[in-house]
Amino acid sequence: MKKSKSVLFVCLGNICRSPAAEGILQTLLVDAGLDQRVKVDSAGTSAYHTGEKADPRMREHALKRGYKLLSLARQFDARNDFEEFDYIITMDQSNYRNVLSLDRGNRYQHKVIPMVSFCTEHNVTHVPDPYLRDEDGFELVLDILEDGCRGILKKLQEELG
Ligand code: 4NP
Repeated sequence: MKKSKSVLFVCLGNICRSPAAEGILQTLLVDAGLDQRVKVDSAGTSAYHTGEKADPRMREHALKRGYKLLSLARQFDARNDFEEFDYIITMDQSNYRNVLSLDRGNRYQHKVIPMVSFCTEHNVTHVPDPYLRDEDGFELVLDILEDGCRGILKKLQEELG
């Protein structure tokens, strides 16, 4: 059987950063011919926006770069997501700590990785929350996410052979 992998992006609301990361990685995977072998999803640590489309500002900025964001927000589900995904990629320190604390038996800590650790062009500590920021905030987030997603694609390509 062909090897396969799965990636879950996690932010707070699942309407700005993580759906954008999902859309970017999905596009990179299609371009690399790997979309049938990698499952990509996103979730929020909160349930504030469950069922909603991505924030219209993020959808607009992403679309200008060719990424169509189609996902609907959902909350991270510790009962399934730790088991289901190979990589659980968080956007900031708060998401990182919150996801780790939901892993009650400390069995999945190795799967939880900060997005910025995949960046090679941006020397940043976290992907900033753009929700209460101006339009430039969305562009900066997309720049960082594109950088990180290229790093994730490289890792997946190495692993999938
Ligand atoms: P996200 O941005 O975590 O990147 O989806 C946010 C969206 C909504 C809220 C906070 C952050 N909020 O507080 O409603």
